[in-house]
Amino acid sequence: KLEEYSISPKTGFLPELPPLAALENPYYAPWEATVSNLQPLLLSRKIRLVVEGLPVLSTDQLETEAEWRRAYLILSFLSHSYIWGDDTASEVLPTPISIPYLAVSKKLDVPPVATYAALCLWNYRPIFPGDSIDCLDNIATLNTFTGALDESWFYLVSVAIEARGATILPVMLDAIHGARENNLDLVVSCLQFFAERLGELTHLLGRMYENCDPHIFYSRIRPYLAGSKNMAEAGLPHGVKYRDGSGNEPFRQYSGGSNAQSSLIQAFDILLGVEHRPTGDKKPSGQETAPHHGVKTHNFILEMRDYMPGPHRRFLEHLERVSNMQSYVKEHSSYGALTVAYDACLHMLRGFRDKHIQIVSRYIVLPAKEQRGAATERTTTARLKPSMASVGINLNLGYRAQPKGLARTPNDRSDLKGTGGTALIPFLKQARDETGEPSIGIW
Ligand code: HEM
Ligand code: ALA
Repeated sequence: KLEEYSISPKTGFLPELPPLAALENPYYAPWEATVSNLQPLLLSRKIRLVVEGLPVLSTDQLETEAEWRRAYLILSFLSHSYIWGDDTASEVLPTPISIPYLAVSKKLDVPPVATYAALCLWNYRPIFPGDSIDCLDNIATLNTFTGALDESWFYLVSVAIEARGATILPVMLDAIHGARENNLDLVVSCLQFFAERLGELTHLLGRMYENCDPHIFYSRIRPYLAGSKNMAEAGLPHGVKYRDGSGNEPFRQYSGGSNAQSSLIQAFDILLGVEHRPTGDKKPSGQETAPHHGVKTHNFILEMRDYMPGPHRRFLEHLERVSNMQSYVKEHSSYGALTVAYDACLHMLRGFRDKHIQIVSRYIVLPAKEQRGAATERTTTARLKPSMASVGINLNLGYRAQPKGLARTPNDRSDLKGTGGTALIPFLKQARDETGEPSIGIW
């Protein structure tokens, strides 16, 4: 059943056969050559020139699913490098990228932007084939923007979480059947397994610090992950035009890469009956009518499903129809072991989100604050001592190889946005708090 949705009972949303490391058909050599040369092309600011000179390749010679995914990965890396790889963001993607990119995205049913699927799910290889990939000592990335260890690690922590979390899926599908047949003991043991695994995933998440430096992440890596939606500040007020030669090329806007696009974490919410509201919406209590908003806020987490590969998105929709854990636990709330196991899952998932909020503070909020501080200092120094201003300018030149985009100093705190476009901490705290809401009440 899982296989029908391109999901493996062993590796979950990661392809069970490791992704293709390269397209072997020589026809696609120009793509492979460019993506494997990305670091020098970005450092020398030659990426746009090279991409514009690429032939417009057809997708006709892509055969297997793995080849289509590899093409999607390559075109995602090339397009974000093209857009963010120079002093100002490019509002246009040229035909050698956009024509095949639109075709590949359509075929795979994912948007033409660097999604979690492109950067994480389809971007790993086991170091020793055959050995497990669910801890961080046997996986490597296929491609990165910067070549930095920190960037690989950033993607690999997600890969390990996907692999380690994968076994939760078949176990919890058993739990759903167990609940239908009123097999209390089975449901309890499945929930216990789920809670324990969630604890392991939080531990893996915490290992981000080991090899991904917050400053490198913030200033060197993150800018390339940005999308084209709500990016006026970074130089894309309208979005990006994907040239297809038709002359009718509207601006398109997509959210950037975000782990909110992980089907695994959204599956956990669905399995446990956790619901997320648009940011700012309070929990409707009793008879109270839902709070009225002048402007309709969007539900970011649901929106992120549009950025998942089609089969994974459809799996979540299916899971929503069959998910019965919350109602089963409520109906059997006098059975202590069941409510304890269910609440433990919610508690562990909440703990995962807590750890994630700490990470976001250290990897985004703090570096942004430091950069703001430095910018204010530069302006003040410039006002007081003109000679010092040149130091500031020279410092900036020293960082020429860094795309400005998201790293551009925001004017104030409220400008701080996730690559997905959320208001960061308020959004994440609400998602964490919502995780505890279905709790039966022991925590
Ligand atoms: C959402 C940052 C690593 C899971 C977000 C958001 C930010 C963020 C800013 C808000 C959405 C947006 O606007 O982009 C970070 C940073 C990370 C990191 C800075 C590491 C340096 C991870 C990892 C996972 C993860 C490794 C797990 C696989 C999630 C999930 C959401 C999210 C599930 C959606 C919100 C929720 O469900 O609570 N992340 N993230 N993140 N992130 Fe991360
Ligand atoms: N969504 C993460 C960020 O905003 C990657 O930096």
